[in-house]
Amino acid sequence: MANPSLLILPGDGIGPEVMAEVRKVIDWIGANRGTTFDVSEDLVGGAAFDAHGAPLSDETMAKAQAVDAVLLGAVGGPKYDDLDFSLKPERGLLRLRKEMDLFSNLRPAQCFDALADFSSLKRDVVSGLDIMIVRELTSGSYFGEPRGIFEEGNQRVGINTHRYTESEIERVARSAFELAMRRDSKVCSMEKANVMEAGILWREVVTEVAKDYPSVDVSHMYADNGAMQLVRAPKQFDVILTDNLFGDILSDCAAMLTGSLGMLPSASLGAPMDNGRPKALYEPVHGSAPDIAGQGKANPCACILSLAMALRYSFDMGDDATLVERAVEKVLADGVRTADLMQADGESPVSTSDMGDAVVAALNALAA
Ligand code: IPM
Ligand code: MG
Repeated sequence: MANPSLLILPGDGIGPEVMAEVRKVIDWIGANRGTTFDVSEDLVGGAAFDAHGAPLSDETMAKAQAVDAVLLGAVGGPKYDDLDFSLKPERGLLRLRKEMDLFSNLRPAQCFDALADFSSLKRDVVSGLDIMIVRELTSGSYFGEPRGIFEEGNQRVGINTHRYTESEIERVARSAFELAMRRDSKVCSMEKANVMEAGILWREVVTEVAKDYPSVDVSHMYADNGAMQLVRAPKQFDVILTDNLFGDILSDCAAMLTGSLGMLPSASLGAPMDNGRPKALYEPVHGSAPDIAGQGKANPCACILSLAMALRYSFDMGDDATLVERAVEKVLADGVRTADLMQADGESPVSTSDMGDAVVAALNALAA
């Protein structure tokens, strides 16, 4: 059988640095776990714009459609701020999401015990936190038509359309319920059914889908209350199901609860391919961090944990995924810290590359 294929798109800013560390883990898996990946690498975001004049070339798009999974670093940077909207680095990422039809975005917010004091909330509010946000990713306000800036009388008007079809709501809801069955069997759906028709429909469809999952406990919350509850008592949640725009906001909020954006991975999944696995793109939640790019200060853990999600959801390698996750936990427990995880003065941070080496050393120790 052919080797599983992986397209790596390091992107901009710290993307290439953190991806170099992911490569070490991929190589370790090849050497120690009997799975060798066919890895190819290409450009996205500002890096693609610099080379091709577009944030994602048609060739790269075609490659992304053909591989088993895509792993992306980060896109964007101040250098590209003045570009036309259609050429901005972010458009490359949005094109991948839309054309691969990656409708279900999984964003875990997990608090690593060794890092609980980094949260701006009290330790007991966040320790042991393990939430999964399922964000709809290919519709809603991000893509709804009509959209644009139009002339209206003597002024301009900016328009975006918050639009959801029943089938769009249903498929992402199903992915949330399926996931909940493998976790704590709770789904809390968040919308604004008190003010938006799309929210009313969202709630109706989720209620209907829930009937197919009687073992899962379903609840509904207005998204503003959801934001408040996330900060007040986050451990009440297991899976949070929400739309594209609310999910963008709520997932940043949830990420910060853990105190360490540099630790959080994500998966964006689409419909099953011929091999039964979903179309998929994996990326860290953090951005391109242009202020620290190229200095060896970035934390590669979020990107390494994104690879772990790929192992689990795209390659049926759940044991290997768990091993990678345990290696990252061990490194943290051993006190290895990149600059973003510094707490007290006088501690000295390790570099991006040292962190990658530490994860590989932990893999060796755990697998021995
Ligand atoms: C995210 C980001 C993106 C989004 C940007 C970079 C387009 O904020 O993945 O959450 O808004 O979806
Ligand atoms: Mg965001």
